[in-house]
Amino acid sequence: MEWRALSNSEINERVNSAIKENNNYAHGGILGTPASYLDKDEFSPNVPFLNDAPFLKTLINNPNHIGCHTLDQKSSPIFSGTHEIEKELIELCAQEIFKAEKKSIDGYVASGGTEANIEALWIYRNYFMQEYNAREDQIGVLFSEDTHYSIAKACDLLRLKPYLLGVDNKERRIQLDSLEEALQKALSSNVKYFIVVLNMSTTMFGSVDEIDRVLDLLEKNRIAHKLHLDGAFGGFIYPFSNPNSEHHFGNPKVSSISIDGHKLLQTPYGTGMFLIRKGYMKYVTNKYAQYVPGLDYTLCGSRSGANAVVMWMVLMRHGSIGWKKKVKELLERTNYCCEVLDELGIDYYRNPFINIIAINANQIPPTLAHKYELVADSYERPARWFKIVIMDHVSYEVLDAFLDELKNEVGSSKLEA
Ligand SMILES: Cc1ncc(COP(=O)(O)O)c(C=O)c1O
Repeated sequence: MEWRALSNSEINERVNSAIKENNNYAHGGILGTPASYLDKDEFSPNVPFLNDAPFLKTLINNPNHIGCHTLDQKSSPIFSGTHEIEKELIELCAQEIFKAEKKSIDGYVASGGTEANIEALWIYRNYFMQEYNAREDQIGVLFSEDTHYSIAKACDLLRLKPYLLGVDNKERRIQLDSLEEALQKALSSNVKYFIVVLNMSTTMFGSVDEIDRVLDLLEKNRIAHKLHLDGAFGGFIYPFSNPNSEHHFGNPKVSSISIDGHKLLQTPYGTGMFLIRKGYMKYVTNKYAQYVPGLDYTLCGSRSGANAVVMWMVLMRHGSIGWKKKVKELLERTNYCCEVLDELGIDYYRNPFINIIAINANQIPPTLAHKYELVADSYERPARWFKIVIMDHVSYEVLDAFLDELKNEVGSSKLEA
């Protein structure tokens, strides 16, 4: 888990030389693409600060990263410079964060966690259909009730059968009797192949699903399955905070992982990432994408190379030491908030490796929750939980202001029992 931090000028140099290596619309010689640099009146390419703003410079140059560049097929030579940065980024995340063997992972920068999750289920659906002759209605998806709704969306789109697993209210652990029940129900309706989605931090609670707890039962019964980890929230924190994590490619049970830059990494929206062991992207090859050099394997098609560049930039600016420090700071602030909640006797759920605190809704006046924009588990039915996510902007000052008001409310016993 080590990579060297680069200075601003090293980062500028690397991105500028990648842009130079790309063919540039402005230099002539690109006649066939249905795209160009960004509109010159809106995005002037000549403002001097662009030389020190590599993300914006890439954005304006507008390289298309369509396709998956970690595969052996040659992608478009027009944007080979920034494609190379995306390859480096994928390898960095796979190897240094998720303990993969060198060059054993394919992946791409997706629009976000939703796309990366759908991509995973799409690949495994086709894998079961092609390798096991499975019909769509024989493939089930197992996931906990705390799972992000993108998995339900994927089941809907891909016509896969969702099987929701219950969790206990206190620990948010997947209940084994619920898993057994789901499997029995599935098997009795001839669903024989399973895509298991486990969370490397759920959206609402920050809970992390245990891999062996769920897979043991499938393995014991020799049930065909593939495991995808949803690390859209936790992917840039949990591997750093929990040295005993099993949620990585060093664990042979893990086939693919989704992560999001536009959450913890503070990169712009459009910076998700999909990572999968080599040998699986082929299940979503689109042979009709004949005009795309290297074909296409992604859900989104055309996408800006600037998104890959900015993820790479942020990771390189921090280096592994800087990133670990940042994770530590976020967790310290989360611990501080929990200590005050403990003193106040407020009930909440917290995973010690994650920067989310889910407070029991009847322990906090809704007006206060709304004032500080805590996020509720539901806006359709009465909230049961309000969460705080200790992000970069959630400083000790902001926390103290909130906690002081909470103290007053608790003191004047405005809360229900
Ligand atoms: C665990 C998890 N998975 C997936 C997503 C979806 O990510 P996005 O909104 O980037 O599509 C989220 C978003 O909050 C999430 O927390």
